[in-house]
Formats: sequence, C-alpha cells, structure tokens
Amino acid sequence: MRTTVSWQAEGPATTLRRTPLKRRDLRPDDLAIRVDYCGVCHTDLHAVRSREDGRPLVPGHEFTGVVTETGSEVSGVTGFAVGDAVAVGNIVDSCGTCAMCRAGQENFCHAFPTLTYGGVDRHDGSTTQGGYSREYVVRSRFAYPLPSVLDPAAAAPLLCAGVTVWEPLHALAVGPGVRVAVAGLGGLGHLAVKIAVALGAETSVISRSPDKADDARRLGAHDVIVSTDPEDMAAARDRFDVVIDTIAIPHDLGPYLRLVALDGTLSHLGHLGPVTLETTDLLIGRKRLSSAGSGGRPATAAMLTFCAEHGITADIELLPSARVNEALDRLGRNDVRYRFVLDLSDLD
Ligand SMILES: NC(=O)c1ccc[n+]([C@@H]2O[C@H](COP(=O)([O-])OP(=O)(O)OC[C@H]3O[C@@H](n4cnc5c(N)ncnc54)[C@H](OP(=O)(O)O)[C@@H]3O)[C@@H](O)[C@H]2O)c1
Ligand SMILES: [Zn+2]
Ligand SMILES: [Zn+2]
Repeated sequence: MRTTVSWQAEGPATTLRRTPLKRRDLRPDDLAIRVDYCGVCHTDLHAVRSREDGRPLVPGHEFTGVVTETGSEVSGVTGFAVGDAVAVGNIVDSCGTCAMCRAGQENFCHAFPTLTYGGVDRHDGSTTQGGYSREYVVRSRFAYPLPSVLDPAAAAPLLCAGVTVWEPLHALAVGPGVRVAVAGLGGLGHLAVKIAVALGAETSVISRSPDKADDARRLGAHDVIVSTDPEDMAAARDRFDVVIDTIAIPHDLGPYLRLVALDGTLSHLGHLGPVTLETTDLLIGRKRLSSAGSGGRPATAAMLTFCAEHGITADIELLPSARVNEALDRLGRNDVRYRFVLDLSDLD
C-alpha cells in the first residue's frame, strides 16, 4: 500500500478532517494520478450528511490531475504515460462483459459500476475513497485524456456534472429547433445550459432564484422562468420539448411536467429516490418521464471533445482544499456560482 493525504469524514462527523489515506499498489492496468483539482458535487454533500455507518468517507468524483506512475501493462498503446494530464469521473470500473458494458454504457453495468468513492473494489472488496485527496489510483480504462485547451481546474466538474447532463441531452436529440429548459441553476444546471446552447437548442432556465437571471442569460439562456412565480409557470405551460431537472431535493414533479410540450420529456436527474406524480400530468400531452446518471466511457470522451471544441468548462470558485468544509456548507445554502473546485496542492 501507499499513503497519501485526504479530507475525510469519520465516525458521526459531518465535517472533513485532513487524514492520511492508503491507496493500493498499482495493478498492471492502473495509473497513479496526482490529483490537482476536484469539484465539489452536491452528491458529495448528500454523502457526507447521510452517513449512517460511521465508516470513513473521502468524497470527490470529478477531478483532474497528472499521471505520476503507470502499471506494468499500461503503455503508449493505451495512451497514458507519466506526465499526461488526465481526468476521472464518478465511475472507476465495471464488469466489462455485460450488455451495458459492451454497449459502452458502463454507467449502467448490470453488475453495478464501481463508484469513485463509497464503491466496492472489484478485486479486493475494499471501499473506494474519492478525489478529495492528493493521489488516486485508477484502472486506466476509466481515466480520460484531458484536452490541453481546457483549464484543468474548471474542467474538473465536467467529469460528473458535465457528463451527467451530456448523456440525456444527447439521448433526447437536443439540437437546433429543440426547446430545452433546465430546472435548477447549480453545478449540473449551468453546464446543462452551456451544453444545450452549444448544441444549438433554444434554452431556458427554471429557477427559484430570481437573482440568477442575469447569470442565466450570460450563460446563453434565452429566457428565465421563476419557479416560485405562479404566473411565470402558468405562462410557460407546454413550452419545452425537453426539461432537464437538476433540483437537489425531493420535489413535486407536477409543476415541471406541466411545462413539457406534447410528446416531450422531463429528464429527472437531480434527486435520486422515490417520486410521486399524478399520472394525469403525464397523460395530458402524452408526456414522458425519464432519468439518467453519469456516463459511459465513449460518451465521457465525446463530451470532453465537444467541450474542448466549444470552449466549455464550469464557472468555478477555486478554493484551497483546506476550505473544503466551508465549500460544503455554502453549497448546502445554494451559495455557489456555480461549482466549487478544490485545489489540492495544499496537501503536499
Ligand atoms: N443523476 C446523477 O448521476 C447525478 C450526478 C450528479 C449529481 N446528481 C444530483 O443532482 C443534484 C444537483 O447537483 P448539483 O451538484 O448540480 O447541485 P447544486 O449545485 O446544489 O444545484 C442544485 C440546484 O437545485 C436548486 N435547489 C437546491 N435546493 C433547492 C430547494 N430546496 N428547492 C428548490 N430548488 C433547489 C438550486 O437551483 P435554483 O437556485 O436555480 O433554483 C440549486 O442551484 C443533486 O441532488 C445531486 O446529488 C445526480
Ligand atoms: Zn457528482
Ligand atoms: Zn457490466
């Protein structure tokens, strides 16, 4: 085993402390990565706050860094060498043989993909620990070359927030002539706006925060609907072919389904868990309810290429990693425009 430094929650704590962390020795197809920048996803906050078992947790599943060591089987053929800039998202392994893996949808692996933290390593059964740490050891198939035109700090959130919105936008054929609305202008939401705009869609934002309207327009949104304003919501009835819902808490889907056009789709990405809805909200207008999560390897690579071509990265507030607890608190208060990224160099 090798030792690095991490930000870890232990026991009942909901704050993270600077703690040594063991990483595995490299397997033949592994890379060791010096983690430079890690985004702070709302899922990290859910994970820290909902800990029940008291087991140690190191969050972080969207990071960029540099390859520091390669396993014996990793060579130029697989494309990675020491010194390469790489990015890692929220999946670090999958079975590789099921129908989903064969289709390049490792995120839906029938044997469940190995999550970047809180997952079960497929070889030794250990619990994976995430990117709020100075080093990560990852199977090379689940690392992605980071395009050199992308700023490595602002690109880190593409690896969870970015690909999570990229897959449904693609699956729903978002492009010119498609009317898209993004509900919840946070980490996922602001990247959904940027990507939908770059895909050529007419894009709007649905937000409970009227003070985000200027930002929404700066991001390329044509219109902003304030979800707490009944008149705004009524006026937007049946207006969107696709609504991407990134709201981070359980909520009634009815008001958002009513904004979906005939035969359109509400893609519910934000809050994972049971939902209740009136089937008449689907029936009237033959509407569809869908979801998505993370991305397969081909889609993740395609998303990075697209973002490089279109100059898309997250709008970030970069903080030294020692301020991680402040970042999580502020994220919980909706006080972020639009993604915190931790600079892990202070762990050296
Ligand atoms: N499906 C997946 O694979 C996947 C991947 C990553 C994250 N997630 C989940 O997606 C959600 C969003 O993540 P994120 O990192 O984008 O979070 P975020 O940056 O906190 O953004 C969430 C947005 O939801 C809205 N919101 C938050 N609290 C709300 C409340 N009490 N009532 C109404 N609206 C509220 C806010 O938008 P406005 O101020 O504009 O209303 C906020 O900006 C989280 O639940 C996260 O766990 C899912
Ligand atoms: Zn995430
Ligand atoms: Zn599989």
